[in-house]
Amino acid sequence: MAPFRYRKPGYVALNVSDLDRSIHFYRDLVGLQLEDRAGDMAFLRCSDDHHNVVLYGSSEPGIKRMAFELETPQDLARARAYVEEQGWSVRDVPAEEAHQLRQGPTFRFRVPEHTLTFEFYAQMDKGSGPYVPTVAKIQRLGHVVLHCANRDAFLRTLTEKLNFRVSDHFGEQVAFLRCFPNPFHHSLGVSRGEKDALHHVNFMVTDVDDVGRANNRMRNNDVPIVYGPGRHDISNSIFLYYLDPDRMTAEYSFGMEEFPEQAAREPRQLPMRPEILDSWGGVPAPNFGKAGAVEQESA
Ligand SMILES: [Fe+2]
Repeated sequence: MAPFRYRKPGYVALNVSDLDRSIHFYRDLVGLQLEDRAGDMAFLRCSDDHHNVVLYGSSEPGIKRMAFELETPQDLARARAYVEEQGWSVRDVPAEEAHQLRQGPTFRFRVPEHTLTFEFYAQMDKGSGPYVPTVAKIQRLGHVVLHCANRDAFLRTLTEKLNFRVSDHFGEQVAFLRCFPNPFHHSLGVSRGEKDALHHVNFMVTDVDDVGRANNRMRNNDVPIVYGPGRHDISNSIFLYYLDPDRMTAEYSFGMEEFPEQAAREPRQLPMRPEILDSWGGVPAPNFGKAGAVEQESA
């Protein structure tokens, strides 16, 4: 068993083709707070952390990496040694870049079964003042779902080596995983796919009005809505999916099952019926979860 514990999904780094346009979208329509902008990077947040989303200007839109915050510096040190032991591709983030990220010691690695770069850190500075919600009362960065060419092997690595726990399986298609012992039903979803790619990024909101208002706000601003509003029976949440300026799928969701650290229920094997994904009977648009390359950073 992996000798480290997670605190939470810390931030997601996204590559975007037009940084100004995406800052406008994520700040003014999604409701993230712009903390800082430096060159081709923008730091945005939906908590008191310095950042929960980092946007990078890039010619190829997609996910650059996903960062998890571990519980303590000791967890981080144990994780660093453990990842090295596995023989995975790993590198420490240079002090200068960690400083720019306002993080303590940080390392990145890749596992052989997926092209996503993982980042682990245990300390991040607070942003300048509390997060002040605007158009939506975002509570936290919720999760990322990935398409995976080598899904079953990746799932095994996540559960057997990286301390993720399966909360539910949606048929043979998607496994929803929590980063133990974080209680939320999923912080990562792995979906069977033809190639590794981003499926969507989720932000959890405070009440159902946030979802209802967003439905109108996005429509009024010509943002395509690709699924919802609806209700996921899997995690017991009300959701809305929409496309960012690069056609990447983002999600708001309200409500999510929480798991205790001890004696959590067993994962369910849920049948792959559309009403399991949306008990209100909606069906996704064809471009739902279809855009976003995985950057193959040299880890
Ligand atoms: Fe989701």
